[in-house]
Amino acid sequence: MTTERTLIGLLLGTEEDWPRAFEEVLRRLGPVPGTGGTRHAFDCERITIEPFGLRDRPRYHLVIDRLAYWYYHPREWLKKVALMDGVYLLNSPFTFQSMEKHAAYCAMMRLGLKVPDTVLVPYKNPVDNARYAYTAARYNRPFDLDAIAGRIGYPLYMKPYDGGAWRGVSRVRNPAELHAAYDQSGEMLMHLQKAIDDYDAFARSLSIGAETMVMRFRPDQPMHLRYAVDHGFLTPQAGGEVVTIGRLVNAFFRWELNSCETLVKDGEVYPIDYANACPDLALTSLHYYFPWAIKALVKWCVFAMATGRRPRFDVAADQYFEVADDPGVSYAGKLDAYRALADAYFESERYQDFCATRLAHLDEIVLDWVAGPGFDELLVQTVRSVYPAHEHDQFIAHLRGLLGMWVRDESARLRASA
Ligand SMILES: Nc1ncnc2c1ncn2[C@@H]1O[C@H](COP(=O)(O)OP(=O)(O)OP(=O)(O)O)[C@@H](O)[C@H]1O
Ligand SMILES: [Mg+2]
Repeated sequence: MTTERTLIGLLLGTEEDWPRAFEEVLRRLGPVPGTGGTRHAFDCERITIEPFGLRDRPRYHLVIDRLAYWYYHPREWLKKVALMDGVYLLNSPFTFQSMEKHAAYCAMMRLGLKVPDTVLVPYKNPVDNARYAYTAARYNRPFDLDAIAGRIGYPLYMKPYDGGAWRGVSRVRNPAELHAAYDQSGEMLMHLQKAIDDYDAFARSLSIGAETMVMRFRPDQPMHLRYAVDHGFLTPQAGGEVVTIGRLVNAFFRWELNSCETLVKDGEVYPIDYANACPDLALTSLHYYFPWAIKALVKWCVFAMATGRRPRFDVAADQYFEVADDPGVSYAGKLDAYRALADAYFESERYQDFCATRLAHLDEIVLDWVAGPGFDELLVQTVRSVYPAHEHDQFIAHLRGLLGMWVRDESARLRASA
C-alpha cells in the first residue's frame, strides 16, 4: 500500500490551546486509509511569516487560518496559495474579505431569512481622504437619524458593518443614546439593527465542515459561562432550522469554519451574526464542547485530504437565488431546499460514511486523551496563560468539572453504541 503524506499548516496568532489539541489528536490518529488503496499520513506544522515569491511553491496541502482577519501579509499569502497552488483553505479568503457582516446580511435577506431590519448609515466622521470634503459637500445628503431609528423602532443595536468581538456594539433605547452612540462611532461604518428582545433562546452554532454544534449562549454572562451545557433548549424544529441556517451560510460563501448567532423567539429563528472568519475555539469558553470541536476539525481536514476534495472559490449564488425567488415555495420549503444544497456542497453523506468506516476509532482516541494527564496539563497551562494568578484554582476546578462531565457523557454514549 502506498503512503501519501499530507502537510497541514496552522496559521496562528496567540492561541495555544486548540492548536496543541489538534496536533495531539492528529498524531494519535496516525495514518488513515484513503480511497483507492492509499494510506494518508498527516503532518502538522505552524506556519511562519516571511517574504514569499509569488511563484514559490508552498509545502502545505491544507491550511487552517486564524490570522488573516487582522494580519495582511499572511492574508495575501493565503490568496496566492489558493489561486496558484490549489492549497485547501477551510474558509475562502475571497468571500471572507468581501462578504463581511454587511454582505452576509444582504445575501441571507435575499434568501428569505428573518434577519432583523437593518440600515447602514454614512460615517459620522470625515473619511481620511483628500477628496472627501468636496465629495461629501456635493453628494452627501443630510439625513434624519432620529427618523431612521423611529422607523426601525427602539430598542435597536448600533454596530459596525464588519464587526467582531463586540467592538463598537451598543444597545440603543432612546434618541439620546442613539446620538451618543453615533457620535462615538467616529470612523466606523455603522448598522442600525432592530433588536430582537425577550427572546426565548440565544443559539450560537459552530460549524466545522459538515458538522454543526448548536449551543445555548448567554451573552450577558462572563466569557467562561457564556456557553451553557444544555442539550434540549430548542424544539427539534427550531434546532433543525438553526443547523440549516449555519450550513446554508457556509455553503453559500464557501466557509467551513464559522459560527452563527441566532435568536429564537416564539418559534421563529432570527439570524443576527454569521460571518465569523475566526470563530471562538478557546478551551476556556467552549469547555464541554471543546473535544467535539477538535474532533470535528481533525475529521474534516482528514476527510478533505483523503478523499481529494477540492476547495471551491466560486460562489454558485444562482442555485440559491432560484430557490429564493420561487414564489410557490414556502419558507419551510425553501429551508429544505437550502439544506439539500448545503448537504450536497459539504458531501454530508460521504463524510458520515467516511467517518464511520475510516475514523471509527477516533472517538476512543479522543476520550482516552481528554480523560488522561496530557489533557489536564493543557487545561492547567491554558488557565495560567489566560487568567490572573489569584483566579487559577477557581478556573481550573471549573474546567475540570465540565470536562469531567464530558468524559462521563462520552463514555456512556460509546458504551451505548457499542
Ligand atoms: N438585532 C439584535 N437583537 C438582539 N441582540 C443583538 C442584536 N444584534 C446584536 N445583539 C447583541 O449584541 C451582541 C454583539 O453583536 P454582534 O454579534 O453583531 O457583534 P460582534 O462584534 O460580532 O460580536 P462577537 O464577535 O461576539 O460575535 C450579540 O451577541 C447580541 O447579544
Ligand atoms: Mg456576534
